[in-house]
Amino acid sequence: MKVKNFFVAGFIVVGMFMASTTVGFASDGDICKEQIKHYQLIKMNDGLLPGDEFNPYDYKGVEAAAKKALANEAKRTHGDKNHAAITKLVSHHLQNIVTAAGSAGEGAVESVGHSMRFLYLSCKACHKVYQTEKRLRP
Ligand code: HEC
Repeated sequence: MKVKNFFVAGFIVVGMFMASTTVGFASDGDICKEQIKHYQLIKMNDGLLPGDEFNPYDYKGVEAAAKKALANEAKRTHGDKNHAAITKLVSHHLQNIVTAAGSAGEGAVESVGHSMRFLYLSCKACHKVYQTEKRLRP
């Protein structure tokens, strides 16, 4: 009888452990699934589309997307210092995009494009370190 109880308790512990690993907090995967949507929204507005007056640069849309990505990036939890440092890089470049697009002034399109290239590299840095074999884009 006692041995049986021991087994039951064991199963409950194992079950709880499995549940905690599958549910957990917002994982990199969850956060990144949202990040890629914001990333593509900004990327679509690279200022290289022809048609000027019919295709004006969407400053407001770019700013909003970068703001959402910034808030989403802040949700990431880190297991080590490098992981945290890369999030800082990503956030820095997103902040520059928010500022540039928000100003909507002369040179803003180029500034966003400039920060966008650094953003790409920063997202990529994490994938290269932690997900080498996945060939993620960025
Ligand atoms: C601090 C680390 C880190 C940063 C920064 C990061 N990623 Fe990721 N990303 C990951 C990890 C880890 C995965 C793999 C998640 C998994 O498969 O469970 C991932 C997966 C992805 C995926 C695939 C998601 C899927 O399963 O459909 C995309 C797309 C992605 N990231 C885009 C981005 C973009 C865009 C950025 C920059 C704004 C970014 N990531 C920044 C760590 C990061």
